[in-house]
Amino acid sequence: MVSRVIPVEPFDLVIFGGTGDLARRKILPALFRRFSDGQMPEEARIIGAARTEQDAAAWAKWVEKALKEFLPKAELDKALIAAFLERLDYLAIDAMGDGGWKELKGKMRDGVTQAFYFSVGPSLFGALAERLHSFEIASSDARIVVEKPFGRDLASAKALNATLAEHFDETQIYRIDHYLGKETVQNLMAIRFGNVLFEPLWNAQYVDHVQITVAEEVGVGGRGAYYDKSGAMRDMVQNHLMQLLCLTAMEPPNKFEPNAVRDEKLKVIRALDPVAPADIVRGQYKGKHSYLDDVEDPASRTESYIAMKLHIANWRWNGTPFYLRTGKCMKARGSEIVVHFKDTPHSIFEADAGSRANVLSIRLQPDEGIDLRVTIKEPGPGGMRLVDVPLDMSFADALGSDVGHVPDAYERLIMDVIRGNQTLFMRGDEVEAAWAWTDPIIEGWIERAEKPVQYETGSSGPEEALMLLHRDGRRWRDIA
Ligand code: BG6
Repeated sequence: MVSRVIPVEPFDLVIFGGTGDLARRKILPALFRRFSDGQMPEEARIIGAARTEQDAAAWAKWVEKALKEFLPKAELDKALIAAFLERLDYLAIDAMGDGGWKELKGKMRDGVTQAFYFSVGPSLFGALAERLHSFEIASSDARIVVEKPFGRDLASAKALNATLAEHFDETQIYRIDHYLGKETVQNLMAIRFGNVLFEPLWNAQYVDHVQITVAEEVGVGGRGAYYDKSGAMRDMVQNHLMQLLCLTAMEPPNKFEPNAVRDEKLKVIRALDPVAPADIVRGQYKGKHSYLDDVEDPASRTESYIAMKLHIANWRWNGTPFYLRTGKCMKARGSEIVVHFKDTPHSIFEADAGSRANVLSIRLQPDEGIDLRVTIKEPGPGGMRLVDVPLDMSFADALGSDVGHVPDAYERLIMDVIRGNQTLFMRGDEVEAAWAWTDPIIEGWIERAEKPVQYETGSSGPEEALMLLHRDGRRWRDIA
């Protein structure tokens, strides 16, 4: 394959929370992969910053261990790892105090891109932004990267946006939603706006309904303390599923540019109708492995599953419901966006001839690809009988070795930060709009003291969620 990797500009990337779990699992392995692909120039440097007192060599050892734990053996070339570790530096820093900040200023170089990754709890975002500013560390085009959760409601998101805005311009703030960095999510835009085939049909006249599913096999595991305060609505729907919904439903932006794309996404969020309680199902897993065993509160009412029916109040989508669902401890891991087209307006075939509907599914994970179901004649004698067959394209099969490994979302996103491209990051007003839509739903649950229904660990979710579609004469696609 011809390498299309274009090296980025020299940079200093500071990872606050450099000894944390996200750094270990995602950020550093992603950086190593970009390094291995030749995307990091000679002068690139990665500086870990955290409370732990240790020197650069000790951090490098820890990073090496993380790479070995989270990357496939085949990618672990000894010489490459050694070269990568040479790019690393480390600094003990006190986020809430003064310790380490002058030293950090001393380490930053002039004339290179600066990026500061806030891989820490949101309670520290303000303190970090303030110190980067007051110690005159960040240059005028430095970038800060903030992880989710970005607030837990509209008020806290607004406060966070205001604090960051005191020290950084919106063009410098990169709010990560790692779903936007997923290869197939970007492909959704290529499929919609790079082909003439789908867009003319992409509206209420031809689309019966859309299903967006993010199913996980894992439970809340060791994250019970965080998760129990969030639930599926805050943890997944307000951000990841909302972003998938936006990209599926938005109008074509005039350019694939940050504000053009984000303007269109924002319009979708603002056009969402409030959701009636009857259109939401909240569930909690139980059985051999129960949600209540994973969290401290034995009477927790937090949902680990949610299914909902949404309406987008605009010309394009009037009358086409979007069904969203996500859950932990489901029978399989599978995320997809499925567009169910309407039946042909009139059938020329016998009533019992069979199916006449097209379904387009975009699989985000696992086995990224797209699949279009088309109706054909069943081969053989016996008259005109119709069947649906897949026009299936697994990216791995279609592109073969050219596809290489499917890059992790963080690889793409971190390089976009260095390149200064905000297209796949959330703008402040987008996050606020998403919370403005989410808040009344959560408040309603609290007011009505609603309890989630239960579903069996390893199942497809609660019965009630199946009913949500059945009552509309529809059914969920099976979670593969
Ligand atoms: C995170 C959520 O943002 O996304 C987790 O906090 C969830 O609860 C994860 O498991 C899912 O991400 P992915 O990339 O594994 O689908």
